[in-house]
Amino acid sequence: MFTTVIGGTASQGLAKKIAKRLRAKYLKSELKVFPDGESKVTIYGKPRDRIIVVQSTYPPVDSNLIQALALISKAREYSSKIIAVIPYFGYARQDREFLPGEIITMKTVAKLFKAVGAAKIVVVDVHSKIALKHFKIPVKSISAVPELAKYFSRLNLNNPLVVSPDFGGVSRAREFAKLLNLDYTALLKRRDRKTGKIEIKSSSLRNVRGRDMIIVDDMISTGGSIIKAVEFLKKQNCGRVYVACTHALLINDAEKKIRLAGVSKIISTNTIPRKTAVVDSSKIIVNAIS
Ligand code: R5P
Repeated sequence: MFTTVIGGTASQGLAKKIAKRLRAKYLKSELKVFPDGESKVTIYGKPRDRIIVVQSTYPPVDSNLIQALALISKAREYSSKIIAVIPYFGYARQDREFLPGEIITMKTVAKLFKAVGAAKIVVVDVHSKIALKHFKIPVKSISAVPELAKYFSRLNLNNPLVVSPDFGGVSRAREFAKLLNLDYTALLKRRDRKTGKIEIKSSSLRNVRGRDMIIVDDMISTGGSIIKAVEFLKKQNCGRVYVACTHALLINDAEKKIRLAGVSKIISTNTIPRKTAVVDSSKIIVNAIS
């Protein structure tokens, strides 16, 4: 089937890789931001047949989101076979009402994707499976854990232990550990819903002394979760600490703070283009599309 890939401005590099793997026609998009903050998106050329729009919604989240919606809407003028690839899907953490009165914005975002004409959505390691329940169109969330694990299989680590910084991520850590035939554990993390303050409530772990740690998480935003986990593990005289995550948002100076906390290396995927993004997600995305 003839395929066109449209690269949103947040994901041009990844979109080109996807187009290459699919032997598809590639169309780039451009963004002009008006003085009042409005986004004007332009595509050059005519897409046709199966159209894949690739656009992550990392910061500026709302601008990247509106660009994704605009591109899908434009693509829909040419075809009904529109696949939205949103490698990092912002708003997925707002999947339920944590405190009374909070609006589940993910529900609104899900309606928007359907309204503009997406027939199917592909995301990588969506933060929460509950977020997917708000969609009325098929959504496939694929795991980048095997690709991250492949990267770590090439490192020479000392009796590594795979650690999830919270219980919510334990299945991810288990999957990662199983692929490399390693032990895993999960820490008990508490986040104050009002202040955002994070605490690790776990009691000391056995068998950590001298061992290298691989902290596995879906995303790093401010770095708060990783830093608390590293402090906890370092207190117990662990060896080197590595971090594997799918989406490295790394807000403000998060990367510097994580390194200062004692992390030797942060490894992430190219769902978000960052210096740490050494793992390519284009292959798993193409497999999910094909
Ligand atoms: C939490 O449930 C997530 O898996 C991440 O651990 C969290 O969103 C990371 O945020 P931050 O880097 O701000 O602690």
